[in-house]
Amino acid sequence: MHAEIALLPGDGIGPEVTAAAVSVLRSVARRHGHDFAFPEYDVGGIAIDRHGVPLPEATLQGCRRADAVLLGAVGGPKWSDPNAKVRPEQGLLALRKGLGLFANLRPVRPHPAALDASPIKPHLLTGVDIVVVRELTGGIYFGEKTRTADAASDLCSYSVVEIERVLRSAFRLARLRRGYLVSVDKANVLETSRLWRDVAARIGREEFPDVRLEHQLVDSMAMHLLARPREYDVIVTENMFGDILTDEASMLAGSLGLLPSASLGDGKAGLYEPIHGSAPDIAGKGIANPYATILSCALLLRHSLELHEEADCIERAVDGALNAQAFTGDLARGGRGLSTAAAAQAVIEQLQAHCYVAELRD
Ligand code: IPM
Ligand code: MN
Repeated sequence: MHAEIALLPGDGIGPEVTAAAVSVLRSVARRHGHDFAFPEYDVGGIAIDRHGVPLPEATLQGCRRADAVLLGAVGGPKWSDPNAKVRPEQGLLALRKGLGLFANLRPVRPHPAALDASPIKPHLLTGVDIVVVRELTGGIYFGEKTRTADAASDLCSYSVVEIERVLRSAFRLARLRRGYLVSVDKANVLETSRLWRDVAARIGREEFPDVRLEHQLVDSMAMHLLARPREYDVIVTENMFGDILTDEASMLAGSLGLLPSASLGDGKAGLYEPIHGSAPDIAGKGIANPYATILSCALLLRHSLELHEEADCIERAVDGALNAQAFTGDLARGGRGLSTAAAAQAVIEQLQAHCYVAELRD
């Protein structure tokens, strides 16, 4: 098939991890006879430098035209002056909003070979298989902000429609998995959370009676996630709680560098990015972990291009690379880590073993 994948490398380690991921996608395309084009656009700090805005119109239009978007990361110290009028992160937020990507899927599945990299005891981690569904275009991220010399405010607001649509995505996913959904809120304090909980209960009762729905307060969820992660399956929550809980959940997998994400809306188009940031401290050194971005490509193939076999190939190849101890520094635990390019190469080599060309199978 022919597909257009808009490439937004962004800042910091973004260009390094996206280049690594594109090399894997090209290899998959070659093996399966696909033709992927990668038109490239600026977003974040580099877009501020080149165009004066974090999300140029050409970038948004290019992403709208594409079948899917692959993004690295945005932000860095250069653009972090607290008094700056524009910030790189605004570009990412405007892109998510502009593309209508309200459901952000963040799978967390610790890899057996990487258990040692986690600060959590290994016996708690085996069998952990969670997907966090984070609401991505509402809440405190997008509410009105005010600032005076001696006060500031950020408004958190949610409409019923915004809650319903992300809850439906989460319920549908839960139905395909273990039929168990945990909805996370702070309903003992926040009005938006009380609305969230009411809507979740109603959607569950009326549309998904076959799915077991449980409500959890976000503070106790933060604890349970580390104390008994195996019990959870699909977790759905609002924008900022999801941001925080998924950085926490990345420690189950051993590294922030292992967690991919898919941001989806109503259609098939989506935005795929690692959950980690631009890591300015290691940018330009060629040592960033590319696995989160490579795994995001698997999600891209599955959700936007419906290339399920190819998506499975990438996931098996990453499994294989980790089994073969192809670790970047974040996973190597004091040992010397592989370079970003070498880790991507390890995945490409594993594709040979794990990626069967269609003619051979038929
Ligand atoms: C993430 C990031 C972003 C967020 C930042 C870079 C705006 O932390 O994707 O989790 O907070 O959503
Ligand atoms: Mn985050």
